[in-house]
Amino acid sequence: MCGIVGAIAQRNVVPILLQGLLRLEYRGYDSAGLVVVNNSHLERVRSTGRVAELTEKSASTHGHLGIAHTRWATHGVPSERNAHPHISSDVIAVAHNGIIENYEELRTRLTAQNYVFTSDTDTEVIAHLIHSHYARGNSLLVATQAALTELVGAYAIGVVAADNPDLLIGSRKGSPLLLGVGEGEHFIASDASALLQVTKNMVYLEEGDVAEIGLRGYRIFNAKGDEVKRPVHISELTNESVELGEYRHYMQKEIHEQPQALADTLEAVCNSQSLVPGIFGAEAATTFADIDSILILACGTSHHAGLVARYWLEEIAGIPCNVEIASEYRYRVSVPNPKTLVVTISQSGETADTLAALNHAKSLGHVHTLSICNVPESALVRLSKLRMLTRAGPEIGVASTKAFTTQLAALFLLTLVLAKLHGKLSKEVEQQHLHALRHLPSAAQAVLNLEPAIAKLAERFSDKQHALFLGRGLHYPIALEGALKLKEISYIHAEAYPAGELKHGPLALVDKNMPVVAVAPNDLLLEKLKSNLQEVRARGGELYVFADANTRFHSSDGINLMQMPEHAGFLSPILHTIPLQLLAYYVALQKGTDVDKPRNLAKSVTVE
Ligand code: M6R
Repeated sequence: MCGIVGAIAQRNVVPILLQGLLRLEYRGYDSAGLVVVNNSHLERVRSTGRVAELTEKSASTHGHLGIAHTRWATHGVPSERNAHPHISSDVIAVAHNGIIENYEELRTRLTAQNYVFTSDTDTEVIAHLIHSHYARGNSLLVATQAALTELVGAYAIGVVAADNPDLLIGSRKGSPLLLGVGEGEHFIASDASALLQVTKNMVYLEEGDVAEIGLRGYRIFNAKGDEVKRPVHISELTNESVELGEYRHYMQKEIHEQPQALADTLEAVCNSQSLVPGIFGAEAATTFADIDSILILACGTSHHAGLVARYWLEEIAGIPCNVEIASEYRYRVSVPNPKTLVVTISQSGETADTLAALNHAKSLGHVHTLSICNVPESALVRLSKLRMLTRAGPEIGVASTKAFTTQLAALFLLTLVLAKLHGKLSKEVEQQHLHALRHLPSAAQAVLNLEPAIAKLAERFSDKQHALFLGRGLHYPIALEGALKLKEISYIHAEAYPAGELKHGPLALVDKNMPVVAVAPNDLLLEKLKSNLQEVRARGGELYVFADANTRFHSSDGINLMQMPEHAGFLSPILHTIPLQLLAYYVALQKGTDVDKPRNLAKSVTVE
């Protein structure tokens, strides 16, 4: 979703702004722009194309202070006039990420005060509001603080004024923003990857913070206006971790990083002889002992991870578990149980619906909260009592891959720790699970060896419009995830069903043009699944079966078999995800879509 970069330095900041925008491209955008302060003027360049186009257009732009933005359209079509930064009265420029909910009312009021709107965006009201306070003689800081009190909604903003070449303002509420601390220069950005080019020292702004940033230093004020200190973190991100290297796309790179990401996520556990609750935080043991049920809240792929976890939690730990789509839960009237552990799952930790769902759960009186997240300093992590960080490293491709499999690994650990605390895990079984977890990274590596065969298989999908994915039990959510991956990046319409549900409706869709992808582990439901697949073959459907060893599937006319190296028991969903990611990737390559930045989508969905 939208990205912000801002800089104040003794050198030309335009290359820094552009390089930062390039790093934020993965968030998803449809236009870009920048403003620099130059000789008491605002110089603005905007474009509806890629950042590369903006770079060409800003070849002669210079300035020591500036803000830049990639816009993912919400209010108003993607166009140059709607691209940020927005300017008020040639004096105030604002770049904004988020949604201002009361913008219509503010727009009416500001229009009555003779402000002229030149865009359809909600952001423009922020620029005019700040200007209305600034024009009354307030400092830029005070004018911004005053304007922010009038906004309803979510924002991260960067603000500059034409007549104030020594000051950059940044603020956040509901959308991420951090401050980069350099030597005699300072920066703001939506995430750390945009600033690695200039500094590793990052200050994460908290909800409602406003930062007043100069060349030599900065001051941060909280939502109440009190000056506060926020810690400086040394980012562990490296330039290599956000670069493509030998791979053609980030998605391919991230699929291949899964063995290492799993090993990193499981490191603390695999090196020890037994499971301890401490991996979820200092208070985990007391919290986990007090709970009698689990509520998982998440969106998209992270929601699918929650669906897998429900099978584990109920079967292994014997704890009732509900899994809800965050955007539904937040508006549903539900009955809270104070002994429920609320688990939020998110790659980014900034997904607006998941954050709102967590806040909603807390407002209902839920006190036991745990987040499973890939971004340590994210809002979600900060809002939760307990946390388990997946260590997947930065995920740039919009399609979530390594984040998903590491979320599953973390959720399996949660299951085992809860099972142990609730007396459901013998020492012997604990050791068996630990053994399987230690083996998981190399098992994932073995699955990656199927890549050339899957690339070949993908050729058969290139002319398809629709696909069905089938799974049963633990692997039904994996079918959902496979379908999501395929539709998201190849734009083929894909649906997933629990295979037993086929004859209750979707079988009507099956004919020779319908590819049916089946996730076929060697588990207790195998024979049932085989019967379901017979129903598909009997209607002429083309089967693509991802089957474990010893499942006695054979390739034949209408049955394309992909043999998985081994059956991984409870961990099988993690391994069965990988070939479906590869299938989606190679089908997208066939179709020539923009794999890492699929149309209409954003990496972090920071608006509702
Ligand atoms: O950052 P999050 O895990 O909270 O994101 C949730 C979804 O937006 C995300 O998983 C989305 O579904 C992915 N693009 C799917 O590949």
